[in-house]
Amino acid sequence: MPDVFRKQSPHAFYRAMVESGTRPYYRALSMRGTEAAVEGKRLIMVGCNDYLGLSTDPRVVAAASAALGRFGASCSGSRALNGTLTLHEELEGRLAEFLGQEAAVVTTTGFQTNLAIAAFLGTNDAAFGDMSNHASLVDGIRLGFGTHHRYRHSDMDQLESLLRAADPGVGKLIVTDGLFSMGGDLCRLPEIVALARRYEARVVVDGAHDIGLLGAGGRGVAEHFGLMDGVDLVTGTLSKCFGSSGGMLAGPRNVIDYLRYTARSLLFSAAMPAAAAAAGLAALDIIESEPDRRQRVFDLAERLHNGLRALGYDTGESVTPVIPVHVGDAELCLRAWQELFDAGVFTNAVAAPAVPRGRALLRVTAQATHTDDQVTQVLDAFALVGRRLGLIPKAAPDGYEPVLIARQRRSVEVAR
Ligand SMILES: Cc1ncc(COP(=O)(O)O)c(C=O)c1O
Repeated sequence: MPDVFRKQSPHAFYRAMVESGTRPYYRALSMRGTEAAVEGKRLIMVGCNDYLGLSTDPRVVAAASAALGRFGASCSGSRALNGTLTLHEELEGRLAEFLGQEAAVVTTTGFQTNLAIAAFLGTNDAAFGDMSNHASLVDGIRLGFGTHHRYRHSDMDQLESLLRAADPGVGKLIVTDGLFSMGGDLCRLPEIVALARRYEARVVVDGAHDIGLLGAGGRGVAEHFGLMDGVDLVTGTLSKCFGSSGGMLAGPRNVIDYLRYTARSLLFSAAMPAAAAAAGLAALDIIESEPDRRQRVFDLAERLHNGLRALGYDTGESVTPVIPVHVGDAELCLRAWQELFDAGVFTNAVAAPAVPRGRALLRVTAQATHTDDQVTQVLDAFALVGRRLGLIPKAAPDGYEPVLIARQRRSVEVAR
């Protein structure tokens, strides 16, 4: 009799991990910040999405504590019933204004935000998604009733041929990450917006990693490209630049109102806790008033990229503080993760299915709160471990191509 519980992990990476005794995942932190502790061992944290370092900012923490005292630990119910707080409404108003959209709604996690996309996809609709989109976007589309066309990562020719081939009577939605979470590169928004206009498609951009970070005002990839009016619906999370927890959707008022009554991940889940909403509001104040934080994280990211490249590492197409250090072989990636851990550096080991098979990488992230000295220590550890494992040459290569960091706004004209 088949037993549904008798499954073997399909991932070779998982088996290699068990066999080698390396444990890069589910490690409990007893202290967190740019310096973290695992089982009493102090580590420099370069595996965290708190790009602006706001999760431990005293103003954010104080706002969360005050809300906890006033509203309690949980909303104990869905937004639609008893779970909407004045704090949620304030946050939604502020986010809509910040993102240049008519309205916004917040959800309990960023993952649930993207599941809400299902509500747009009826049997007569089609979604067109980048193959490197985050799992939550993939699942959101899967939960809908429309067809899912996937195009090779950032391959605009393929996106165009899929759009051209689609039945003109079908509703079309182009869905993309703004800043790709593993590659650190940006979606090709100007081309996407131009294609959407040509083929009458709507554009959804998941700004999970870029809202707060990119653009002169931190409004994300749309602001970076000067295309604030090119994106129909923005999704995002408070768990990265906002140093909190929870998700957001921002767009036309009628679309947001429709979601309030149809998105199952919003309707049938307890609301974002008050502490998270208050932390999000405090973080938004800081994002709006302290643009230097963005400059700082880009400075550190540039130094990390170029320091790693000078050693002979490949940081791929990334132009952001999400720095993929390409290793290739999954087992080698595990060994490198462990040796870096032993040397006092906490990175993220990433292998299939999060990236294509054979393209394992160590994901390194910069935070505005890292010190210069921490960055030096990280680079020293990468030099030591990389040479020992043969990931880089023993002597630094003669030259390297510096990263073109996404600091400056790239304004682009897109035909209407
Ligand atoms: C691109 C992207 N979208 C959505 C999410 C989900 O956000 P959350 O962690 O807030 O659920 C993530 C989280 O890793 C992400 O990287």
